[in-house]
Amino acid sequence: MLIQRLLLHIFQHIAIKSTINFLLGLLVGIFIASQHLFSHKSLAPVGKDITDRLANNSTSKSEESTQIITNVAEVKLSLNQKNIGEFYEEYYKFYEQNHAWALKSFLGVHFLQNPNDAITIAEILYNQDVDLVIETGTYRGAAALFFASIMYQYRYDAKKNSMRPFKIITMDINPEARKYIENFTLLAPYILFIPESSVSPAARATVNKTVFEMKPNNVFISLDGDHYAEAVYNELLYYQQYVVNISNYMLVQDTRLSRKWHTLYCGQSKYDGPCNGPQEAVNWFMKNEGHGRFEIDRAKEYLFTTHQKGWLKRISK
Ligand SMILES: C[S@@+](CC[C@H](N)C(=O)[O-])C[C@H]1O[C@@H](n2cnc3c(N)ncnc32)[C@H](O)[C@@H]1O
Repeated sequence: MLIQRLLLHIFQHIAIKSTINFLLGLLVGIFIASQHLFSHKSLAPVGKDITDRLANNSTSKSEESTQIITNVAEVKLSLNQKNIGEFYEEYYKFYEQNHAWALKSFLGVHFLQNPNDAITIAEILYNQDVDLVIETGTYRGAAALFFASIMYQYRYDAKKNSMRPFKIITMDINPEARKYIENFTLLAPYILFIPESSVSPAARATVNKTVFEMKPNNVFISLDGDHYAEAVYNELLYYQQYVVNISNYMLVQDTRLSRKWHTLYCGQSKYDGPCNGPQEAVNWFMKNEGHGRFEIDRAKEYLFTTHQKGWLKRISK
């Protein structure tokens, strides 16, 4: 009897202790879980808001997603715009001092074009169905080969096995480009290389004769030769006559050279502005002969351009 009562007492003690332990464990579990949920509280409304809007909205999910992405992009854009001036100044310094402008090739030929700007040019060529490009400053001909590659694609009709005519006229005081261009036998026949200074009588006569014979519809001009303001200004004065159609472009390359830290082009201004580079030539041209006939199209400055305020669009005859 005594043993029986002793065993009962022991069992009761164990049962009470287990229940207390269980309840304590439960409380600790609830506490940890609540802490975990609380730590994610700040993220919950964003995700919930998006999923609720996706679930409840009458517009399609893809439209809604696009809207959300657009909103996010707008916020980022406005933040960047605030510091865009400083960003460009620093980036140009980096671009120049690290010789980043000289590190690319096209078809194995040294290519002195910023990749962002090159794609924007390709877009203009295709969108405007450009049939004539005039380039000053050929260097080794990589840009001319790039233009020709793009133009070949949209001027050629494989079904009819026919090519609508197109041409790239490019010139340089250095004749070395010829040997690089001639290596590309598919594209070379479309590139007319003139080994002369851009506004010399010989270059002007050849350009004039070619344009007269060809009678192009849409023209794109890239001024990438001598980058001193006076030379660029003289090119603008002469070559503007070939950009006849409204919306066609004349691109003044490398306006970044007109920066206060760039010793080569700064400190001896001939026109308005602190330097004597391409930007001063653009400013002067736009104040005078270009005024009302061209406008600076800043919409062409995609992401990072080395031709800030250099994309001149024809706006009137
Ligand atoms: C920046 S590079 C051209 C780069 C080339 N467009 C490319 O994308 O690879 C400048 C070139 O302009 C040439 N140049 C300098 N003065 C010139 C002039 N008055 N007429 C034509 N070319 C000139 C130089 O010989 C040099 O090859």
